[in-house]
Parts: sequence; C-alpha cells; structure tokens
Amino acid sequence: MSKIKYFSENLDVQSKTIILRLDLNVPLNEKKIKDKSRIVTCLPFLKDLIKKKAKIIIISHLGRPKGVKNNDLSLTPIYKFLKEQLETKVYFFMGDINEEMKSKFSYLKEGEVILLENIRFFKEESENDDNFAKKLASLGDIYINDAFSCSHREQASIHKITKYIKESYAGPLLKKEVAAINAIIKNKKEPVTCIIGGSKISTKINVITNLIKNVNNIVIVGAMANNFLNFKGFQVGKSIVEKNSRKIIDNIYTEAKKLNCNIVVPEDCNVSTNFEGSGKTKKQDSVEKNEIILDIGPKTIKNIESIIDQSSTVLWNGPAGYFENKNFSTGTLAIARKISENTAKKSLISIIGGGDTISGINKSNDKFAFTHLSTAGGAFLEFLEGKDLPGLNVLK
Ligand code: 3PG
Repeated sequence: MSKIKYFSENLDVQSKTIILRLDLNVPLNEKKIKDKSRIVTCLPFLKDLIKKKAKIIIISHLGRPKGVKNNDLSLTPIYKFLKEQLETKVYFFMGDINEEMKSKFSYLKEGEVILLENIRFFKEESENDDNFAKKLASLGDIYINDAFSCSHREQASIHKITKYIKESYAGPLLKKEVAAINAIIKNKKEPVTCIIGGSKISTKINVITNLIKNVNNIVIVGAMANNFLNFKGFQVGKSIVEKNSRKIIDNIYTEAKKLNCNIVVPEDCNVSTNFEGSGKTKKQDSVEKNEIILDIGPKTIKNIESIIDQSSTVLWNGPAGYFENKNFSTGTLAIARKISENTAKKSLISIIGGGDTISGINKSNDKFAFTHLSTAGGAFLEFLEGKDLPGLNVLK
C-alpha cells in the first residue's frame, strides 16, 4: 500500500507560495470564537512556514453554508485572531475565486499570509469541481493539507486541488493524527467501547454499522440517541431526529446481534422546552410533545461510567448533550472525567475526537488525561472504520 507523502522539514519553501488547507471550523457565537482549540493547534506549523519565508495562502471552511455567502459563517473573526497571533502581515481575501486572483495576490511577500474567505461560500467546493480546483491550485507552488478533520470530504480544496498542483503533502498535524490513531488501532485492547454522540447525525449513523465489527460496546448519546429512542417507539418530543434512519438502525441492531456487539442507548434524559432552559430529568418513556432532549440523565451516566470501568479501550466522538448551556453539560463532562480518570489510573487507552467534543470538554476547568485528543470528528470515525479517506488517498 502506498504511503502518504508528508511535508519534510528540509523542503526549501523560501519564496514559494504554499496553499495550506486548514480546519478553522470553530464554534462561533455572535461572531465571537467560542473555542479556539482548532486554530491554536494550527499555529506552530503556520509560524514555522512564516519563519522559513514561505508565502502562505490559507484555505478553510466554516460550517455548512451550502454554496451561499452567509455573514454568520464568515471567517472574519478567525482572521482577526490570526492577525493577533502571527507576527507578520495577514490579509483577508473576500473576493471571487477566478483567473485574476493570482495577479491580485502578487503583493504577498515572503513570510506573509492571506486567509481566503470561507471556501464553502462557493458551491464548486462541495461539488469537487475541476475548474474551481484548477483555479485554486494555480495560486500556489505547493499544496499542504494539514486538516485531517476534513480529509473524509471529497471537496475541491481537499481532493481535486491535488490534481492540478505539482507538489502535494500532508502537514505535521495530519501526520500526528494519523500516527496516533493508527498506533491506537494497532494496540487496542478488548473490551473496546465506542461512545458516539453529537448532532451531525447524517455523517455518523452509517459509520456505526461498520464499527460494530471492531468494537464490543457502542454507546449512543447526544442527538444521535434520539433516532434510536424513536426507533424503539419512545416519544422524543421536539428533539432533532434524522429522517429515514429506521432502516439503518434496524440493520445496526441485526448486525450487532450477529456480531455480539452491545448497543447501549440512554434510559433517562434531561429535557427542556427550549435550549436556554434549566432542565428536568425524565425517564425515556415520559418525554412530552413540547420537550427537547438536551442531555443524558443520571441513570444513563452511571451506566456509561460502569461500561467505561469495564473497558480497556474507549473511543469517544460527539458530546452527550447541548453543552453550550451548562445545565446540559453534565453528561459530557461526566464521560470526560471517567475516561480521563481511568486513562490516568488504569492505563485505559482512550481517543477523544471531534471539534464539538473538545469544545464541550473545554467548558470545564478540569485537566483531563487522554491517550490522544483528535480535532477530527467525522474523519476520525471514518478512519477508525478503516475507510480510505479521499483527502488522504490523493496525498499518496
Ligand atoms: C468537522 O468539524 O468535523 C470538520 O470541520 C468537517 O466539517 P464538515 O462535517 O462540515 O465537513
């Protein structure tokens, strides 16, 4: 099997224009960055390229604007933060991606940086459009993907761009992620438990079917659990559910039975009639029509803690509740504490993944200990499944 081409420290980048794909997809609230972790982890490599006098063009997406410009998903707050952090000129380009761009960027000097506005404002990005990728590629000499968390996306700035540029590499963050997850997969000890939560249901629900083969327990929390409760005939009120998930879930239960994988869903929850509410504990069979399930309840937390106690490897992706309101962060923090405690004391092997999971954990001042903390969500799960991620495949 061919190997990923990694960026080498020895590569002379002085005066070369580097197109750097980063994942600056961070949570915002009223245009303020709520959690900077993803950006902060990108800074050392960025600073290194600046020191080496490369000219750097950064590409990132933010949210899912579906090819439409949307002020709420502008990278402006991220640009401002980068400007504060980098001791060089940082420009922000909000124009169209076209042939004239290259000449417009001639002002970029060695060691300077341009951040392009949210690349998903252009529908061609998600369509992995050839022409669009070609225009992006024409801006630079070298392409570096340092966004492992986006590498499961077959999109122009991740995938097609590599077809039109001479040199493409994976960056150091990507390298670190791949090495850490590979080492854990190789050394994982049974029983293996996978905890899956969060609200990006559509990207994760199919993944569960494939994970059944590799793990002993799958614990479903967060908005993901609503589908399972719905499937079991429980009322989930106004909670988010994925349309057409019945067949997938039916298949998950059939496969799990065949392969002896234990699927665990919440027995109780914390609900409110709105996201700003204070929360009320309910058994799963007593959620009312006007209520939203916003966290797992105390019985479920106890059960998950005991499953973690019996596990030798835990993989966790996606928060257990709407942690943005601290009344619903209890489940997420309880899981984090238990995994961390056992990682430190009992040499539990743990990988925690996903932008939201990290933001959820960062709500607490506790110091957590995990074997590996990945910034990736969907990409991390697909990689665990053993899938050949499109963004990595093109770097081989
Ligand atoms: C993530 O948050 O997992 C990455 O930024 C990818 O985002 P996406 O799921 O919208 O492609």
